[in-house]
Order: sequence, then C-alpha cells, then structure tokens
Amino acid sequence: MVTRVIGRIGELTTNDPSLGDETLMGRLRDAAIVLDEERVLWVGPSADAPSADEFIDAGGRAVVPGFVDSHTHLVFAGERSEEFEARMAGERYDGGGIGLTVNATRAASSDELRALTSHRAAQLLAGGVTTMEIKSGYELNVAGEARLVGLASEFTDEVTFLGAHVVPVEFAHDRDGYVELVKGEMLESCKDHARWADVFCDRGAFSVDESREVLLAARAAGLELRLHGNQLGETGGIRLAIELDAASVDHCTFVSDSDIALLAGSGTVATLLPGADFSTRSRYPSARRMIDAGVTVAIATDCNPGSSYVTSMGFIIALAVREMTMTPDEALWCATLGGARALRRDDIGHLKPGARADLLILDAPRAAHLAYRPGSALVATTLRAKR
Ligand code: NIG
Ligand code: FE
Repeated sequence: MVTRVIGRIGELTTNDPSLGDETLMGRLRDAAIVLDEERVLWVGPSADAPSADEFIDAGGRAVVPGFVDSHTHLVFAGERSEEFEARMAGERYDGGGIGLTVNATRAASSDELRALTSHRAAQLLAGGVTTMEIKSGYELNVAGEARLVGLASEFTDEVTFLGAHVVPVEFAHDRDGYVELVKGEMLESCKDHARWADVFCDRGAFSVDESREVLLAARAAGLELRLHGNQLGETGGIRLAIELDAASVDHCTFVSDSDIALLAGSGTVATLLPGADFSTRSRYPSARRMIDAGVTVAIATDCNPGSSYVTSMGFIIALAVREMTMTPDEALWCATLGGARALRRDDIGHLKPGARADLLILDAPRAAHLAYRPGSALVATTLRAKR
C-alpha cells in the first residue's frame, strides 16, 4: 500500500486530546501526518516525520479531519424554490411541501435519481465531507422506499430508512394503516440496505406514540435508531430519542432546560441543523446552553429541497458560529467528531493513528478561517480513505 507524509502543516487539528496541545482539538503546530490509503499511521512534529512513498508539502496551511455530515436527504428529484420565496415573504415552514418532492421523486427514473444524488454527493465532497449519511423518505410506498435506500447505499454505508417522514396523501384518512405499512412490509423491504431508522416526530408528521411504534419495530428488525425531533415545537421527540437510546436526535430547535439536562446525561447526540433554521427563518437552538451543560453536539447540512438545500459544511460551520454562538473550534469539533458520535463511529472524525485517512488541507493557515471567511471555498485538498 502506498504511504504518504503531509509535512509542514501550519496547524494540525487531530481532535484527540492525547496529541499535541492536550485540548479537545488535539492541536499541533509545524506538524506532519503519515497515512496509507486507508489509515492514519503517525502524527507528530514535522521535523521528526518518518519517510514515506510520497511527500505532500502543506506549506504552512491548516489540516483538519474530514467533515462528517451525519444528516442528509440527498436522494430526491425536483426543487421547491417557490416555497422558499413564500417563506421569505412570511410563510411558516410546516413540512407541507414534502408531498411535492414525493411526487417528483416517484416520477423520476432510477438513473435520474442516481445522477442527481451523485451530483449532490460530489458537491458535499468538494466542500470537505468525507462521510455522509443519506436518508430515504421521498417515495413513501414500499417499492419506492426500497428503491431509495438501494440508491443511497450506492453512495454510503450510513443509510437511513425514513418511511415515516410524513403520512402520504393516499393514507390521509388512514394514518394507522400507514404506520402499519411502515412497520411491516416497508421496513421488511428496506432493512437490508439500511443501517438506521429515523422518524419525523413533530407537529404535522408523527406523534410520539406513532414514532415509538415505528422505531421499536425497526430496532426489532436489526436497525439502529435516530430521530427528527423538536424542529417545529416542544413535541417530545427529544425525550423519546433518549428513552430509546437513539444515537442522535436531530434539529432540537425547540429545547427546554429539562431536555438539555436529560440529553447531557444520555448517550444520545443532539444534532443541530442550522441550515434548516436559516432557510426556514426559524429561531436557532441554544447550542451554547447545550454545550455548556455537557451535551454531545453535532452539526450537519440536512441537505433536502424543502428546509435546507445546503451542500456546504463550511457554511454550516459559519452559521453555527455566528447564529448559535459556538466558538470556531466548537463548530469544527461538532462537524467532525460530533458527527462521528452521532453515527456511533470511532474510526472517523479524528486523526489519531488508526483512524481512517480522511482529512482536509485548507487553503488557510488556521481552521478558524472556516467560520471567519464564510462562503469561500477553503478546502484545497480532500484525502479520503479507500472504501
Ligand atoms: O429535516 N423535517 C423533516 N424533514 C426535512 C425536511 C423535508 C422537506 O421539507 O422536504 C428536514 O428538515
Ligand atoms: Fe432532515
């Protein structure tokens, strides 16, 4: 296997407190890192770097772990810019536009959906995302959801079955029938291509009891759990996620002090999606209070055509800093190791020897530039471990 050394790194963020400056960010200056095609082999001062087959001169630039985007809805057809325009003119987001995307997605061929997904995945990768989660949820029938998890699995191992996104129109008068379908035939036809199950537990989508039913059936079928919760109100999604020991509860825009205390004592990560709060002109969640209380927080793009048509993790980091009062270091941690925790992965999100060789060379001397220069393409080189 070919080995590489990246030398003369101005600022290396490892996210491993045992390395470098012993902070959470595990920082080293004038550093080097040695990799093979799959793993990190060595980290240390540039002057001590062992030799390798190839040398990359970072020229004083910053290196960070690859971003982990733990929440996307990448497989869809169509777009909803008119809905966005209406919101910017004062309409509220209530998830009601999901049906339009369901119609467009059902009407698209698999080749069309594959090309659309591939284009979005390439945009994420160009912006530094080296691991992405992808959800189904825009066909809402048995064959369609199976098609979407199958397509998602062509792009990632982190596939999520979201048959319980909303109740589709054909079941508008039979919610219970739809929940039964999701728990039964739909789950059965999707489970082999998915690692995770998710439910949109919120106003206008599924109640806490319906969500619990679906998630327990999914767990019994061998899937691990995550949940959309508390995006539109204090609807009990956060508590349900904790009750079920879900890996992550996502959005958390409406979070109470008692939710924060429960999250802090739980194994559930709070994944915040500032792109959705931005694009729905919502309030932002209290990231400061969560982090200060000891909650494990991740940030992700939530890329989808309704609430957050965003493919840039750099933009998400900038929003987390400016709008959710994170420090630049906290936002970087949440976009890397936080995302890894939300996916219950210990091999990504950091650069300790043994980690996957997923890293970014930035076109900047310090990682803080990610938030300091929003909208700039700061990822100069993305190295991604062989899959
Ligand atoms: O995470 N809130 C639920 N699902 C997506 C949005 C889906 C849509 O509007 O198309 C979200 O924000
Ligand atoms: Fe989402």
